[in-house]
Amino acid sequence: MTGPAKQTADASPFPYRIRAAAPADGDAIAAVHRVSMEEAMPYLPVLHTAEEDRAWVAHVVLPRQEVWVAETAGRVVGVASMDDDDMLTQLYLLPAYQGRGIGSALLETAKAARPAGFRLYAFQRNTRARGFYERRGCVAVAFGDGSGNDEGEPDVLYEWRPISG
Ligand SMILES: CC(C)(COP(=O)(O)OP(=O)(O)OC[C@H]1O[C@@H](n2cnc3c(N)ncnc32)[C@H](O)[C@@H]1OP(=O)(O)O)[C@@H](O)C(=O)NCCC(=O)NCCS
Repeated sequence: MTGPAKQTADASPFPYRIRAAAPADGDAIAAVHRVSMEEAMPYLPVLHTAEEDRAWVAHVVLPRQEVWVAETAGRVVGVASMDDDDMLTQLYLLPAYQGRGIGSALLETAKAARPAGFRLYAFQRNTRARGFYERRGCVAVAFGDGSGNDEGEPDVLYEWRPISG
């Protein structure tokens, strides 16, 4: 899959592509996840070491979930993953690559992979991401007080469903 930048050839300054992740992407995915979370949500407790993150991606995320990466100039700059329960478990871009349409393209990839719909959690304080999801058709369906996640941080469950009719 190719991002809009490649389709517009020379008119675009920023080519990227989205592809299925491979085992060799594991460490890069873990790094994107960590750096992106730390930048977007510095108030969260850091619960895992970088090594634990890499093990989680290698032994849980990649073998058990559907994972896509956004790549530019051979570098993984974004990741999205979906589990068997139709939960979007990750959507993270390196900070320098945000605001260029790549997150939207990854979300579209998730929608195409789950045309009947899916859900995702966001932290309530993550207003940038919440606006991003809400402007792309995701609807808040439940609010949690933080007792249901490891970080103890209030969260919101979003649902995306295709428009019927
Ligand atoms: C939220 C995120 C995945 C969106 O991806 P993206 O590539 O920046 O998004 P796009 O460029 O496709 O779209 C930009 C939109 O996101 C919003 N946005 C969210 N975070 C942004 C950021 N850090 N920089 C610029 N725009 C951001 C913009 O307001 C813009 O909104 P609009 O087009 O609806 O007006 C990405 O910004 C990110 O990784 N954020 C940090 C990690 C995070 O919070 N992930 C979600 C966890 S639930």
